Amino acid sequence: MTALDDRVCVVGGGGNGLGAATARELADRGASVVVNDLGTSVRGEGSDPDVAEEVAEDIREAGGEATAHAGDLTDFEYARGLIADAVAEYGRVDFVANFAGILRDDFATNLSEEDWRAVVETNLTGQFALLQAACRHWREAAGDAGFDSQRSYLTVSARSARGNAGQVNYAAAKAGILGMVRTVAAEMHRSGVRVNALVPNGYTRMTETVPEEHRPYTREEMPPERVAPLAAYLASDDAADVTGCTLYAGGDRVGVFSEPSLDRVGVRPGGWTLDALTEHFREDVAGDVDLTRTDNYF
Ligand SMILES: NC(=O)c1ccc[n+]([C@@H]2O[C@H](COP(=O)([O-])OP(=O)(O)OC[C@H]3O[C@@H](n4cnc5c(N)ncnc54)[C@H](O)[C@@H]3O)[C@@H](O)[C@H]2O)c1
Repeated sequence: MTALDDRVCVVGGGGNGLGAATARELADRGASVVVNDLGTSVRGEGSDPDVAEEVAEDIREAGGEATAHAGDLTDFEYARGLIADAVAEYGRVDFVANFAGILRDDFATNLSEEDWRAVVETNLTGQFALLQAACRHWREAAGDAGFDSQRSYLTVSARSARGNAGQVNYAAAKAGILGMVRTVAAEMHRSGVRVNALVPNGYTRMTETVPEEHRPYTREEMPPERVAPLAAYLASDDAADVTGCTLYAGGDRVGVFSEPSLDRVGVRPGGWTLDALTEHFREDVAGDVDLTRTDNYF
């Protein structure tokens, strides 16, 4: 049985859904867990410090080690304080997973500026704030203690990153996560820090924002607890070389996403002109590739 006994883990957005399931899984395997949550609604309105505390208390009642840390991960200073407090409490931080996210769905032509900004702020900027705080701490710690492959960061994307009608703000933020992960994984590799993205599917209060007849799955098919083991795996020694990856977990399935690649290339010495493109682009460059992509990829 894979043990995480000596690990100290911080779980952002750990008060509900997938984050809470992950915090419990990590603690069940012996990790000490700092549970962060703002205690906000699915739309990111309001706050409640009891939400993080309830999960931490549950973990302690089950015999695990957990501390609550209520706060807003879009606040860079708060994110730095969260990592500093975890180090002060437990002596180190090994694994950080950030599940904090909100939804404010609308079509691009209807979406308000406020709803665009709020979703990008939480789902992308907030993810960067905690990633930066953790990486700064790890880079400093690497200077003192040398390479330590236990250092691992997990951020959360979504299948909507490929495009999902009605979710332009969420899709853009979740696609931004993928560029962030690949970049920071490369930057932090020398410091022994791994950075990966998780694309999850689990029935949570977010799923319940979809009208019942359109929900893609039931709680029984996709319980949030089925996502947590892959997150915990990324905290383990077996995943010591896994970095820069986008992984999938949902129901009975786990997987690895492919990365974007240039599928077709046309070379024209001296460069392409409008006339040359008009003559050659469809047949010689694109070939049988579909250039009208209006599918809903979700
Ligand atoms: N549920 C799914 O199937 C699914 C699919 C794809 C992606 N995701 C992503 O996984 C993550 C978790 O989703 P969930 O379904 O468990 O949602 P959830 O609403 O159940 O939990 C999200 C938690 O994040 C917290 N939070 C929001 N803003 C915060 C902030 N600024 N600071 C700290 N905490 C904050 C909320 O209070 C909440 O407890 C989200 O990022 C979501 O976009 C979920």
